[in-house]
Amino acid sequence: MDDRELLDTMLRLVASEPSERGLMAKGVALLARERPHFNWIGVYLLQGGMLVLGPFVGKPTPHVRIPLGQGICGAAAQSGQTIVVDDVQADPRYLACSLETRSEIVVPIVRNGRVLGEIDVDSDAPAAFSEADRLLLEAVAKIFASRL
Ligand code: SME
Repeated sequence: MDDRELLDTMLRLVASEPSERGLMAKGVALLARERPHFNWIGVYLLQGGMLVLGPFVGKPTPHVRIPLGQGICGAAAQSGQTIVVDDVQADPRYLACSLETRSEIVVPIVRNGRVLGEIDVDSDAPAAFSEADRLLLEAVAKIFASRL
């Protein structure tokens, strides 16, 4: 499905899924299914200066708790800005999750200027994330923010 249909489907999930965790779990599953280059996708929630892994699709990661400021995840949460890394091996901030991962995008979930968490996506392809992917994930992050 195209981005518009995907976001419409996500908004229908918001209406039909009463729990915030259920919404995030179904949301990341939808994205993983519809965007095959999203090889790992998960939501981290900021709890007392720590990013805590919530619903995800993909191989288990050792990074279930990431301190603010560590890794690409911690940098994105600290700055409140999306970070796109075309080559994770060339970024000294990168915390390895899977040996296959080549590129990553991290999109903060922000409400009223406050970072509540983030959506983290890894791809096994280098430079996998387009401007369209960024806009799609930023729209999904806004939808999640409305429910957190
Ligand atoms: N690569 C992330 C860590 C999380 S795993 O990719 C799931 C980082 O550098 O912060």
